[in-house]
Amino acid sequence: MTDQTNSSKETLLDIRELKTYFFTREGVVQAVDGVDLSVNVGEIFGLVGESGCGKSVTSMSVLRLVNKPGRVVGGSIKFKGIDLLKLSDAEIKKIRGDRIAMIFQQALPSLDPVYKIGDQIVETLQVHHKQDRQAAWKQAVNLLKMVGIPDAERRAQAYPYELSGGMAQRVMIAQALSCEPELLIADEPTTALDVTIQAQILDLLKELRAKLSMAVILITHDLGVVAETADRVAVMYAGRIVEQATTVALFDHPMHPYTNGLIESIPVLDQTKERLNIIPGMVPDCIGLPIGCKFAPRCKARVDNKMTVCTDREPQLIQADKEHFVRCWLYQDCGQHTPNVS
Ligand SMILES: Nc1ncnc2c1ncn2[C@@H]1O[C@H](COP(=O)(O)OP(=O)(O)OP(=O)(O)O)[C@@H](O)[C@H]1O
Ligand SMILES: [Mg+2]
Repeated sequence: MTDQTNSSKETLLDIRELKTYFFTREGVVQAVDGVDLSVNVGEIFGLVGESGCGKSVTSMSVLRLVNKPGRVVGGSIKFKGIDLLKLSDAEIKKIRGDRIAMIFQQALPSLDPVYKIGDQIVETLQVHHKQDRQAAWKQAVNLLKMVGIPDAERRAQAYPYELSGGMAQRVMIAQALSCEPELLIADEPTTALDVTIQAQILDLLKELRAKLSMAVILITHDLGVVAETADRVAVMYAGRIVEQATTVALFDHPMHPYTNGLIESIPVLDQTKERLNIIPGMVPDCIGLPIGCKFAPRCKARVDNKMTVCTDREPQLIQADKEHFVRCWLYQDCGQHTPNVS
């Protein structure tokens, strides 16, 4: 876990009540439904949850890259006070890839197969900095060095197919950094890589954040990755944030039963354990979600009697501690009774 003091507390990105729906023939997919989160200048912010919980749609909403049949239907996304949802297409295009950059799980398909990697970075540099080719090439090589590509001068001449998965991921990071973004959104940047390379890429992100005081939103389904890398973390479930805290607090005092389930399902090297504790059931389809808490059908702490507040009414995200927020009836007055925690 990293130290919070690394980052200043100035807010960089502030998302309030974000709702992004997909209007499909099968019904309205409420992929993101009332997300609140804020990212501070220079911090690594982990966004974690199982597949389909809305992590990518949240980040695509920030960059205004959600396409039909999807659309942002409510909320605000303020980046240094500017509401990104209110900008014109030309204005958001200027911010995208300049002040906010994004990298994806699969690096290779994001790189153009017919251009040398150096040329691809040069092109981005020239768009953003109006540099001449020679200066841009020199800077491209420096960026490749910065992300730890050995023999960067020679590698700049390589084509994407000549790179390993880890190298391609480094090249994509170098390309994202070429515009010196204030925010880097990394969507599952290490999922496709083996464990050693994964650790190297996460170390690189930490190092770059410190060097460039750039904030990073690290999207992952792996709480282990968050524990190693993030300052703060938000746990998502069915399009909502169910818990948000500093990484230290989240692991020391997890509050939401879903967070507990995720922590218990982190693999441990323990010969005495035969299998992992998995959370029973599946992430619900985001069409026609149940009323009440969306996690209730899978929740061990759910109240199962006549006054089933958990399945009747949705809890709010409440502040449980200075930097700790949770959305669960266990921690708020439901006007009925206190649910059983056992
Ligand atoms: N183009 C689309 N049309 C319809 N539904 C969509 C579309 N894109 C995403 N969704 C739905 O939105 C929900 C959230 O998807 P999202 O891709 O954000 O999940 P995720 O948390 O990033 O999952 P993963 O870990 O698998 O990447 C899912 O139910 C998904 O099926
Ligand atoms: Mg995703």
